[in-house]
Amino acid sequence: MKIGVIGGTGGQGLGIATRFAQAGEEIIIGSRTLEKAQVGVDKVKELLGDIKNVRAATNQDAAKESDVLILTVPLAAQKDTLLSIKEGATGKPLLDATGPLMSAIGGSATQCMLLPEGSAAQRAQTILPAAKVICAFNNISQTWWMQLDEPIDCDCLICGDDKDAKAMVTPLIEMVPGIKVVDCGALERASIIEKITPLLIGLNIRNKCQFGGIRITGLDKGRVC
Ligand SMILES: NC(=O)c1ccc[n+]([C@@H]2O[C@H](COP(=O)([O-])OP(=O)(O)OC[C@H]3O[C@@H](n4cnc5c(N)ncnc54)[C@H](OP(=O)(O)O)[C@@H]3O)[C@@H](O)[C@H]2O)c1
Repeated sequence: MKIGVIGGTGGQGLGIATRFAQAGEEIIIGSRTLEKAQVGVDKVKELLGDIKNVRAATNQDAAKESDVLILTVPLAAQKDTLLSIKEGATGKPLLDATGPLMSAIGGSATQCMLLPEGSAAQRAQTILPAAKVICAFNNISQTWWMQLDEPIDCDCLICGDDKDAKAMVTPLIEMVPGIKVVDCGALERASIIEKITPLLIGLNIRNKCQFGGIRITGLDKGRVC
């Protein structure tokens, strides 16, 4: 499956691209410029060797040529970036990692911004109604993605309104060692999932670490009568 990482040149996008490339998927790293996307590809190859399954493209071409899209840009860039890939994103699963953090407007990354749409993922769905938006990857830090020799000790909480799209991306996400996908339901659940991120950032600061993550337990234990 071809995965296009839109804005894949930053910490989160490069980490995700590297892990999925390591898992053998075909990756297109997208950027506003082809040159910057190529720098991203070179970084992935520095880490993984001269692999053939990663290439560079503009965000627009990455969206058109991919089966699944992953959006990894700051909130301030979310709307323009989504509008720039409107054509290519139509009908495709779009995994939105956008964090609505107060740091987007000069505040603290340990606080969440309240958006009129309810969440950044719902905002993405409003901007691109024809894409199948799924909130994903918000609670897994770039530090975890880049621990390439270790399984990622985190669940990936996802939510979205298109059940088929979630069923399609779940095995894909779980190709990354260690990650378990937890389907949290409809897209409106993103307002809760996205708020966990500033909590984790705060915990990282308090504990002087960068690996704060989340695991949901007990869901396979059955009902107590
Ligand atoms: N970093 C993490 O650990 C982490 C964890 C969970 C969620 N997230 C979320 O994932 C998203 C990406 O995080 P990040 O740390 O990777 O962000 P970042 O490094 O600041 O930016 C990622 C990419 O977005 C593009 N971009 C940046 N500013 C832009 C602008 N004003 N207009 C258009 N494009 C712009 C750039 O790509 P080009 O210049 O190549 O176009 C940049 O390389 C954020 O929403 C963040 O909240 C991050």
